[in-house]
Amino acid sequence: MADTTLEVLLTPAEYERPRAWENHVCVVFDILRATTSMVSALASGAAGILPVAGIEEAVQLKQAHPGVLLAGEREGLRITADLSGGVEFDLGNSPREFLPEKVAGRTIVLTTTNGTRALRACARAETVLVGSFHNLRAVTHWLRKHRPPNLLLICSGTHEEAALEDTLAAGALCERIWPDYSTGQVADSAEMARRLYPLMQTDLVGAMHFSRNGRRLLSHPELRADVPYCMQRELHQLQAVMQPNGLVTALPDERLP
Ligand code: MLT
Repeated sequence: MADTTLEVLLTPAEYERPRAWENHVCVVFDILRATTSMVSALASGAAGILPVAGIEEAVQLKQAHPGVLLAGEREGLRITADLSGGVEFDLGNSPREFLPEKVAGRTIVLTTTNGTRALRACARAETVLVGSFHNLRAVTHWLRKHRPPNLLLICSGTHEEAALEDTLAAGALCERIWPDYSTGQVADSAEMARRLYPLMQTDLVGAMHFSRNGRRLLSHPELRADVPYCMQRELHQLQAVMQPNGLVTALPDERLP
């Protein structure tokens, strides 16, 4: 497919600038930890996850739909009543929390710092897939089957900066889909990510000492275990997409090769 385009958006400045989203398929990564948590929640049987930008919006949705669970973080920690004006969030943003006994059958309203921001930014794209190391093979399978001509891999980043963990995941995906895109227009960012991943793939947890987000989580006794958890590859054969109404759901089971 010589007329394809492949680009990795490394920072919020890139995904927040105007572009023809409707012509693109996007894969969004927030490895530490929002997209990993979403994939974990869906693998545990959650009905769907609605990413929202602010705490106030999440609280209003809870008032309108009392059956939803509220989840999310600020400064990495679960949102408490002090921060939300009186509502205790049910869950934080640790993928280890999204267990079947807590989330099966439930709709979760999630607000996080960068992950929900990136998902909202590309809401008008033709298709938005949610990526993590846990479901990379399933995402690859979807892309190789549908072969979208214009593909954007979106790294949510850390505040306004690039995040190593998201770039590594984008690189791992680039490597897997390279045969379908290398003869088309490939942005330098995709080359950079693809060439970075092999340098660090044998010790992704160790690589997190070079990541701002990784160091923040590793220095926190309650959150430290999230780092090795999020770096596991291929835990779930699950494809997650953001629907036009913003709800992230699992696609029906598709047999992987
Ligand atoms: C984010 O959305 O910025 C992250 O998932 C933050 C976190 O580690 O909880």
